[in-house]
Amino acid sequence: MQRVAQLGYLHFEVKDLAAWEAFGTQVLGLGLAGRRADGGFALRMDGHAARLFVTPGSADDLACLGWECADDEALAAVGDRLRAAGVAVREGTAEECEARMVRRLLRFADPAGTPSEAFCGPALAAEPFRSEVVRAGFVADEQGLGHAVVTANAQAESAAFYEEMLGFRLSDHIRCDIHGFRVDIAFFHANARHHTIAFGDRQRKRIHHFMVEARSIDDVGLALDRTMAAGLRVMQTLGRHPNDRMLSFYAKTPSGFQFEFGYGGRAVDDATWVPTSYDHISEWGHHPPEFLSKPTEKKPSA
Ligand SMILES: [Fe+2]
Repeated sequence: MQRVAQLGYLHFEVKDLAAWEAFGTQVLGLGLAGRRADGGFALRMDGHAARLFVTPGSADDLACLGWECADDEALAAVGDRLRAAGVAVREGTAEECEARMVRRLLRFADPAGTPSEAFCGPALAAEPFRSEVVRAGFVADEQGLGHAVVTANAQAESAAFYEEMLGFRLSDHIRCDIHGFRVDIAFFHANARHHTIAFGDRQRKRIHHFMVEARSIDDVGLALDRTMAAGLRVMQTLGRHPNDRMLSFYAKTPSGFQFEFGYGGRAVDDATWVPTSYDHISEWGHHPPEFLSKPTEKKPSA
C-alpha cells in the first residue's frame, strides 16, 4: 500500500504572532524560515525548509495537517483512495504549493473536519538547521516533525480513515481513568516514530498537543527552564509514557493548546510490532503542576 510517509508540516492560525515567534524560536528552539506576505512566518527544525507555518487569525488552533508522501506516485495513490471513498479532494493551486514550499499537494478534511493536505516534493534547506537553543538538535527528518494528538468525533471512524485512506498502522491504545476522566487514545505510526498521530474523543480544539523530540535529555530540561522563564503554563510535569517511552513535559502554547517536548521515543519495526493496550498513561510523572503554574525567576541556562 502506498501511504503517507511522515508528518511534514503543521499550520497554526494564531492571535498573537509575536508571542508565537518568541515561543517558536526561543522556547522550542526552532529557526525562523522566512516571513510571509500575510504577516505570518515559517519555522524549521531539520533538513526541511519549513516545518511549522504560523499565520494570523482568530482561531488560535490547528489550521492544517500536512502529510508528506514519498513521491508523486504515493501521493496519487492516497488521492485515488480518498476519492474512491467519496472524500472531497481538491488539487492544490500553484500558489498554495508555493506557500507550503512543496511541489504538489491535495487538500481534503479528516472525519472530524480538520483541514488536511497530502503532499510530495518538500523544499529542502541548503544546510540542515542547527539550533543555537536546542544544541543536540531534533529527531525529525525521515521521522517527520513529531506527532499530533487531534480531535475525533468517533475514534473508530477516524481510525478507519487514517489506516485505510492514509496508510497509518496501529501502534497501541491507552485506556485508563485519570482524575475522574476516562481516557481512551489510539496511537498510529507512519514510520519508525512510535506515533505520528493519536486521537481519543472530541477535543475543544482541533489539536490537543503537538510534540517535538530532542536528541538529548538535557535539552528537555533546558526547554522546561525556558518554558517556565517565559511564563508559559506547564500542564504536566516531567514524566515518561509507557507506550512510546517518551520522557517529556507538557505546557500551553500561546494559543492555549499544548505542546509536548520530549526525548528518547522508541522506534517501531513493523516486521515485529504487535499492538497492545496500556492501562496507564505514564510510567511516572506527568502530574498537573499547580506548584509550577507561575513564572519563576530562573533564567534559561542556554
Ligand atoms: Fe504526545
